[in-house]
This record gives sequence, structure tokens and C-alpha cells, in this order.
Amino acid sequence: MAAINEVTDLSFDDDVAIVTVDSPPVNALGHHVREGLYQAFTEASGADCEAIVLICGGRTFIAGADIRELGTARSGPTLGAVQDAMESSGKVMVAAIHGTALGGGLEVALCAHYRIADPNSRCGLPEVKLGLLPGAGGTQRLPRIIGVERALEMITSGEHVPAPECHRMGLIDELADERSLRSDAITFARRIVAEGRPSTLVRDMKDKLKVTPGLFEEFRSSHTRRFSGFDAPEMIIRCMTAAVTLPFDEALEIERSLFEKLLEGTQSKALRYVFFAEREARNLTDVDRSVVPLKVHRVGVVGAGTMGGGITMSFIDAGIPVTVVETDPQALQHGLDVVRANYDRSIRRGRFSVEQVDERMGLVSPSLNLDDLSGVDLVVEAAFERMQTKTEIFARLNEICKPGAVLATNTSALDINEIAAVTSRPEAVIGMHFFSPANVMKLVEVVRADQTSDEVINTVMATTGRIGKVAVLVRVCPGFVGNRILAARRRAADELLNRGVMPWQIDSALRDFGFAMGPFQMSDLAGLDLGWVREESTGSTIRERLCELNRRGQKTGAGYYDYDENRRPTPSSITSEIVTEFARRSGVEHRRFDDSEIVDRLVLGMVNEGARILEEKMAMRASDIDVIWLNGYNWPRYRGGPMHWADQRGLRTVINGLEAMAAEEGPHWEPAPLLRRLASVGGSFGDA
Ligand code: 3HC
Repeated sequence: MAAINEVTDLSFDDDVAIVTVDSPPVNALGHHVREGLYQAFTEASGADCEAIVLICGGRTFIAGADIRELGTARSGPTLGAVQDAMESSGKVMVAAIHGTALGGGLEVALCAHYRIADPNSRCGLPEVKLGLLPGAGGTQRLPRIIGVERALEMITSGEHVPAPECHRMGLIDELADERSLRSDAITFARRIVAEGRPSTLVRDMKDKLKVTPGLFEEFRSSHTRRFSGFDAPEMIIRCMTAAVTLPFDEALEIERSLFEKLLEGTQSKALRYVFFAEREARNLTDVDRSVVPLKVHRVGVVGAGTMGGGITMSFIDAGIPVTVVETDPQALQHGLDVVRANYDRSIRRGRFSVEQVDERMGLVSPSLNLDDLSGVDLVVEAAFERMQTKTEIFARLNEICKPGAVLATNTSALDINEIAAVTSRPEAVIGMHFFSPANVMKLVEVVRADQTSDEVINTVMATTGRIGKVAVLVRVCPGFVGNRILAARRRAADELLNRGVMPWQIDSALRDFGFAMGPFQMSDLAGLDLGWVREESTGSTIRERLCELNRRGQKTGAGYYDYDENRRPTPSSITSEIVTEFARRSGVEHRRFDDSEIVDRLVLGMVNEGARILEEKMAMRASDIDVIWLNGYNWPRYRGGPMHWADQRGLRTVINGLEAMAAEEGPHWEPAPLLRRLASVGGSFGDA
């Protein structure tokens, strides 16, 4: 084997040249890989061989361009030059795929004449998730193999398609034995040569490019919601339109220029930031990662309410058996019925088969007795949100659960140290704060209490990953990280009401910013009466007044908004009168706010709270705060998160905005000292 460079080798097996890339962790197409590939293909083309096999070492085929290199000055041959070298080699070219062939990786494989794959591998063009489009011919070559309609779906969703399905679509020509990809690829290449099978380049194929009239318009309109706010999907559709209307090279030029345009834009910058932020969140700075996590074979969930049910689904979806405990048989049955009904909806949507749902439900053991949790490895308590209820349950769990079991609470705000204190094993107590609906929302705030052990933290982080959720480690403070920032946003929103701004204007401004809903719609959905007690209500806040009028949210047909029988909201004249009355009484000056000022106020409030959280070390890093807001509160991904938003604005501008807010509303909006410190040295939250 001859080394081409530190990441690429060229070897020969008689008449077959083998180009091997081995550049951990994922063989990304950084400049060394591009250089190695270019030289290897050029050398192999001039060699005395019939075919060239491209294969990768390590865990995967090429997983795409090197995302860290995107947007920086690139050296070495371009990806286009590598692809030209492949297509002009004059040899039969075979790509041998294992792991994942993604983005630029699949685009390289599409320059081979044939593709053979490990049956466990996956192929995809996930650039859209980075705010990009496939920029190395993906929008042109993929439809030539699998047809325009399927390619549109695959590229705009970024899905990773399993090899057997790729085989059915013709994207993969042959499935290898999972133990012998390399030798199977060589044999396959020889067979093609021996049979004299045609070696047509994908770029020269045309048959699959025929489309039914109106296909693109229809695709656009049926995906309006999914694409809303994102720039890349429309650009992808434009490239695909070019694919069916223009010669290959002209369409390729359009693809390149639209790729560059997206690459320079704010959305791709934000989404690439998110890619790394989500991975960085797994990197625990002050926890001993060498402590091996405990094995979690069985989980207990205390409480079969909305949260308990959703949490149960999250575990059984991952194949982990759950014992669900309730106090009351009816509540238990109702909880299980809701879980079943959720799954039935998934069956109707074609997401699961009846057998898959039955299998999941078979993993649930219902119980009315906490003693049944004696053998579980992890308990998640999701009972009523009241300290006394929680401490009683934890005192019992302390007696019942086996030594070494992890005792987690799903509290969203209570002091976990206080809960841990009622046990004789505070090192085993931790928060696992799921977000509603827990079976859907990706985030789990993992809340370490003062005495939580590293073993327990590592176990919960690993288990959360195992159930497909995003775990972010935080510390105990009121509201933890996510809800504490939510409260700051709400405070800023309520202040706007005091100045006569209507709830629907605030909600609509936030929707235009990219949120699915605003704070007042959220209140109506959750119920305005959370924590409201009729007997103690004094009508001193807008919320209390609405509750007293039985406007307690969607469930009562009215809240901040009026609702029709289909739960469609309309602005309410009653709410409007109450807001106007409170605004008049507040004594503050009223003025008009346009939508951008409304959004700025709300987000500035969030950023300031985020800065305080960082100062107090309640979150490990600014990007963790963004990951929390992206995955727990549906912050628009193409805006990167509140702390990224602040960094893009520039911290000096953020401070100016907060100072103006403080001048109008009071000293609680004074910029956090950390903000001032960072701004004084021209820094950003990324440096905090
Ligand atoms: N560039 C740079 N680094 C990458 C990378 C890439 N394309 N893909 C993964 N990495 C890094 C990750 O940051 C991580 O680094 P860390 O260990 O320092 O945190 C490491 O590789 C392992 O990644 P994961 O933790 O994500 O490992 P998994 O095994 O869970 O997943 C994967 C592997 C499915 C390949 C996943 O990493 C992934 O989806 N990667 C991104 C793929 C992608 O988006 N490709 C398209 C790139 S854009 C492009 O190709 C443009 C072209 O059209 C011109």
C-alpha cells in the first residue's frame, strides 16, 4: 500500500486500484482528504488497472465536507476538481460505502459509475440542516438516479436513507456482506469489467428527469409549513428546476452559485453553529468522564399524568421497559389510555405498525405500589409539582429502591437539593427535566444537585442520549436555565402590556421571528390557572382577572384570546379592555412599538438573564443555553439561539438596548456584569 498522504492510500489488487481514505473521526472532505483523493485518482487513472474502488477506513464512508472549513479560505484542490478526476479517469469507478455517505461524501460517490454498500449503511444529502444545499452536484446527479420527486423529498428533508431502501431506488447498485465490503467491492468491480457492463456517468443520465407539470409548485405548497422561515429549501427547488430544464454544466453552475449564497448567509452560519453546539453540550467540563455510567435496564416512572405518560413513551420507544406507578387505579388507566391513544395516532399516520405499538405497550408494567420499583435502575418521578408531594415520594423511594439506583425528579422548578436532603443517598438524586410533550420534545435539562455524583450524572447523560434526546447539564436555581430565561421573556412581555401593547401583537411579532407561538398563546395552551387559586385571587394582575372571568385558556374556550369550536384563536375585546384598563392604571407612558422593537425587548431580556446564568455558573457555556432554547422551546434553528443572536448583534449593541430598557422599565434590566466585561474587551459569549 502506497501512502498518497497522511489520510489517503493507493494500493492494487491485481487489476483493481483501491483508494482508501482514513481521516478520523468521519473522513470529512478537509483539504488533506481532497488533496489525497485528487492525487490518488490521478495516479490510478494512469496506472495499468481496469477499475478503481474508493473505500474508507474507520467508522464511516465520507460524511461530507469538513463543516469547520466551510466559509473559510480553502486550500488544495476543490471538491469539483476531485470529482472531475473521478469522472475522467477512464476506469470503471466503484464507491464502497459503510457507515454513512453524507453530503459531499455521497456527492463523491455519485461520481463513481457504481455504488456498493454495507447493508447497515445510510446515504443522505443533509446539507439543508446546515442551511445549505448540496453544493457538489447533489441536486443534479441524485434526481438522475432516483427521479426528481424522490430526490426533492430526500434533499429538502436531509434524511439519512437506509442502504436497502437506497438499493431499491437504484442509488446503491449492490448490497455487500457486512463483513466483507472491501473484497465484495473488488469482486463487484471485476465482474462489471468482465461482463462489459456500460459505464455511464450519472451526469449523462437523462431518463429520470421527466417531471409531471406543476410538480415543483405542488411540492412547494404542500411543504409551506415545514419550510417556513428557512432559505435553503427554496434554493434547492430552484436547483432541481434547473436540473430538468438546463444542460448539466449550466445547472451545476446555478447550484454552485446558490450554494455560495447560502454559505455566506446568516442562516447557514447559525445552523453550523448549532451543529457544533449540540455536540459540545455532551462535553462535561467539571465531571469525571472516566467514571463508567451505570447500566440502565429497567426504568420506573412515578405518575401517569401528561408528563409521566410522555416520559414513559420516550423510554419504551427506545426499547427500555418501564414500571409506571400511580396512586389511583383510574388515573393509572387514564394515563395508559392516553399513551395508547398517542400511539394509535402514530399508526394512523403510518409512523408505526400495530405490531410495533403492541411491542412498546408490552414494555409497560402498570402498578399502584411504589414497592414495585425496588428492582429498577432509574426512577423518574413525575408527580404533582409540590415540594411536599416530592419529598414524601423520595423518602419512600429511598427505602424501596436498590442501592445504586438513580433517583431522578422531573420537577421544572423545585429545589432538588431539598428533595435530595430527605434521602440518605443525595449523591443518587438528580433532575431530569423533560419538556412537554415529553415523547416529542428533544430536550432534557439534566440538573445536578450539590451532591449528585459523577457516576449518576454520566448515567443520566448517557441514558438521555440513548432515548434519542438532547441532554444539557445545568445546576439548581429557580426555573433552572430554560424556564428562568422564559420568565425573563414573560416579564418583558408583561411590561409591554403595561404600555398598552396587545397580546396578539406580541405573539404575532414572535411568530414572524420564527417561533411557533408567542407567550400569550402558550399561556392559553398551558392554562392560565396553573398555580391560580380562586379563593386567593385579588384581580391584581391581568392573568388573575382573566381567570376570575373563567377565561382560563383554550380548555375553557377563552383566555387571552377567544376560541371557536376548532380552537382557532381570535383577539378578544374583553382581554383588550382589561389590558387597556391595566395599562391606564400602571401610570407608565404609552407609546407605539413596532414588531422589531417588541422582539428586541423580549430577546434582550432573555440574553441578559442568560448572562446572569453564566455568571452564576448554572450553565456550563453560552452555547448550552442556546441548545436548551432550540430543543426545549422551539427557538427558530436558523437563528442559532438567544446567545448566538446576541453575539451576532454585537454585545455593545445588546448593552445599549438593555440600557434603554432599564431607563424605561427599571434597574432590573441593567446589563449583567458579564455582558459589560465581555463587551469591554470586544468579546462575545463564545469566549465566556
Ligand atoms: N465536518 C466536520 N466535523 C464533523 C463532520 C463534518 N462533516 N461530521 C461530524 N463531525 C465531527 C463532529 O463534530 C464530532 O466531533 P467531536 O467528537 O469533536 O464532537 C465527530 O465528528 C463525531 O460526530 P458525531 O458526534 O456527530 O458522531 P455520530 O456517530 O453521532 O454521527 C454523523 C456521525 C452521522 C456523520 C454525524 O456526525 C453527522 O451527521 N455529520 C454531519 C454530516 C453532514 O452534515 N454532512 C454534510 C456536510 S456539508 C457538505 O457536505 C457540503 C457539500 O455539499 C459541498
